[in-house]
Amino acid sequence: MKIFISGASGGLGLALAEDLIRRGNAVWGIGRRVVDTFRAETLSPELFRYSVCDTTDATQVQNVFNKMLEENFIPDIAVFCAGGATEDIEGKDFKIDKFRENFNVNLFGALCWVELLLPHFIKRNKGIFAGISSMSTYRENHEKRIGYSASKAALNKSFENLRMQYINTALKFVIFNMGRMREKRTLIGTSYAAAARFISEDLRARKTGGTVNIPFSQYFLTRMTQFLPDKLYHKLFRG
Ligand SMILES: NC(=O)c1ccc[n+]([C@@H]2O[C@H](COP(=O)([O-])OP(=O)(O)OC[C@H]3O[C@@H](n4cnc5c(N)ncnc54)[C@H](OP(=O)(O)O)[C@@H]3O)[C@@H](O)[C@H]2O)c1
Repeated sequence: MKIFISGASGGLGLALAEDLIRRGNAVWGIGRRVVDTFRAETLSPELFRYSVCDTTDATQVQNVFNKMLEENFIPDIAVFCAGGATEDIEGKDFKIDKFRENFNVNLFGALCWVELLLPHFIKRNKGIFAGISSMSTYRENHEKRIGYSASKAALNKSFENLRMQYINTALKFVIFNMGRMREKRTLIGTSYAAAARFISEDLRARKTGGTVNIPFSQYFLTRMTQFLPDKLYHKLFRG
């Protein structure tokens, strides 16, 4: 299969690229960093293409997309991993421009690719869009980042609506609500490699669109916290 991954220069996106390539799939990744330290043994050059691209910049996105078309790389699956949590509280002030940055990368940075790829997916009646979201859409846990979970919640709703809109086609819209991820597994959460393996297996076997929560233990805990009053939740989880 051919797979597009935004945010393939680090973290989950890179781990996912590695997992998919190891299984013989071709990956086209993007990220802002010039990446020269890819783990060469798993990211073989025949199977891995990478373009420096800021997904919030329409011209850069269009240029990369044109290059993909030229090289006949219409992906079977597009995974939107590129994300960030920009602080939008400075001192006691709320900064709308910083708030907007969260939406620019987490929401519009994914939906711009949906706009470009959708006609191609519709034409061949096949394709999966996968949005990497967050369990903070259930209960907020980010200090000074008002826009982070708000932008992820907007991504989830957009995918839910897209799923409904294209329900009579073979197109699939999937959201992965991620819990805490690090290079190495911590007490709460999971490792990038384990999360990538889960997503890769899920996407390759997927028959319908839907929402997936990873890891399940953290999903369970997070949903439980929804029953807690704000004061108690903040005392327990934010100190
Ligand atoms: N880690 C967690 O605990 C956690 C929990 C819940 C959800 N998530 C979500 O999971 C996804 C991956 O997280 P992660 O921990 O792997 O984050 P990460 O290590 O910070 O990696 C983020 C990736 O997104 C890319 N990126 C950021 N802004 C970009 C832009 N404007 N244009 C293109 N690429 C951009 C980064 O590459 P460059 O810097 O090279 O651009 C990097 O490859 C994110 O969407 C995040 O919100 C993470």
